[in-house]
Amino acid sequence: MSSVLNESVYESQPEEHAFRVTNVSGTVPADLSGAFLRSSPGLTKLGDHYLNYFDGHALISGMSFRDGAATFRSRFVRTPLYEEETAKKAVVKRRIFTNHPSRWSNLFALDFGNGAMHDVYAWGEGDALRIVAGNDPGHFALDPRTLETKGPERWNGAAPKGHEMGPMPSRDAATGHLVGWVKKPGGLKPDQLKFVELDGQFRVVNETPFHALAASPAVVHDQRATTNWFVATEQAVRLAAGQAIWGATTAFEAFKLPPGATATLLLAPRHGGGPLIRVPLPAPVVIAFHVINAYEDGDTLIVDLVTYDGRIPFETFAPKPLRERVSTKDATPDARPMRLRVDPKAGRVVESRLLGERSCEPPEVADSVMGQRYRYAYFPTKASDAFPEQGFFGHFDAVCRIDVESGETRAWSPGCLVSSVSFVARPSAASEDDGWLLTWLHRPGGSAVAVLDAQRIEAGPVATLDTGVHLPAASHVRWAAGVQLQP
Ligand SMILES: [Fe+2]
Repeated sequence: MSSVLNESVYESQPEEHAFRVTNVSGTVPADLSGAFLRSSPGLTKLGDHYLNYFDGHALISGMSFRDGAATFRSRFVRTPLYEEETAKKAVVKRRIFTNHPSRWSNLFALDFGNGAMHDVYAWGEGDALRIVAGNDPGHFALDPRTLETKGPERWNGAAPKGHEMGPMPSRDAATGHLVGWVKKPGGLKPDQLKFVELDGQFRVVNETPFHALAASPAVVHDQRATTNWFVATEQAVRLAAGQAIWGATTAFEAFKLPPGATATLLLAPRHGGGPLIRVPLPAPVVIAFHVINAYEDGDTLIVDLVTYDGRIPFETFAPKPLRERVSTKDATPDARPMRLRVDPKAGRVVESRLLGERSCEPPEVADSVMGQRYRYAYFPTKASDAFPEQGFFGHFDAVCRIDVESGETRAWSPGCLVSSVSFVARPSAASEDDGWLLTWLHRPGGSAVAVLDAQRIEAGPVATLDTGVHLPAASHVRWAAGVQLQP
């Protein structure tokens, strides 16, 4: 069964659904109210052409909870590329991780397609509320009840056409602002990056100047805001442009690791427009896409990251026919959660330690502690070696909670693959971890949601809700407290 499930994380789900969830075991908490959203690549095959997991067309799904009952709804993000490729039943544009099957059609093909698949978030108060499918290069706004596609989301002009947007903006607990970045491609010069903050009406209430990065394209992903800093990372990889243009490999395979290079922590002053501070991460960390959390401790910054000591062969995270075409034999390095104490004035890491021994990715913390001192981080993780590509988080088979102070780890494995996780605070939460942990289970009969008590993860779910619908592995998931999708 494991090999079937292993492959089915890449398998398309071309249908859209909307229904009440009736197959429930256990008791759904009555005060769990909101929607558990997920982004996954609903289409990884068009005609005879396959797409890499990260290049598939985004299928946004959500399980909405209210009064102890639940509904399910899923819709594709109708990007111009989705409309064109589904009409033609063919892959029209080359992607970062997927080449055209015909070798020479990749030559000079640098207008990469965007399937809007990476993350999904809900933002906005009152009439401004919308759900947004987030990917770099650009986001798409969706109706918060039906998931119908409204069009490109450009953060009220902060991200003009041709600029790239951080794929997974975060909410700053102190201000209640949405925090993200916008990148201006540099061409022959390094890219430039600015951080932006939006209020509940999508108004830009703070932004930094554009800061020069080290490369073009510079690979930046997640971010956080602390009281005085915006925090992000720039990966060590550099594009061999000639190889990408030549097209014999995917563009992603043309990203190389310069010998001895490490990833870089980016610290931009949140106020006052000061210069960007670049802090080299300790060797051998070359990749750190996701920020677990960051906060200020006196004159130093605590930055917790999921780190990798080697190149991640994303080109192999693909349906078998595509996976067999790439020549990569690299194993995926472990995803290592790491704590860094950083002196911003000196521009250096003064202390670092691993937060746990398990391979964990991607991270989650309570909304209430984003950018603040905190105690608990939650992750999907690896419980067994039953699945062959354990480095890919789509093949993790347990969820865990790590106490970042003591290192104590609690885990639960359902005996199947799990998705990323969301922490949901109880309405009357008495402590940081007083709430539920939600994850999608990847089961032979379809995808299900498990609701766990975040303080007693190891006890297993208090409720499991079966959709009976196959969904490919989720990329990122989010809890959206103010959202109820129509059944
Ligand atoms: Fe991500």
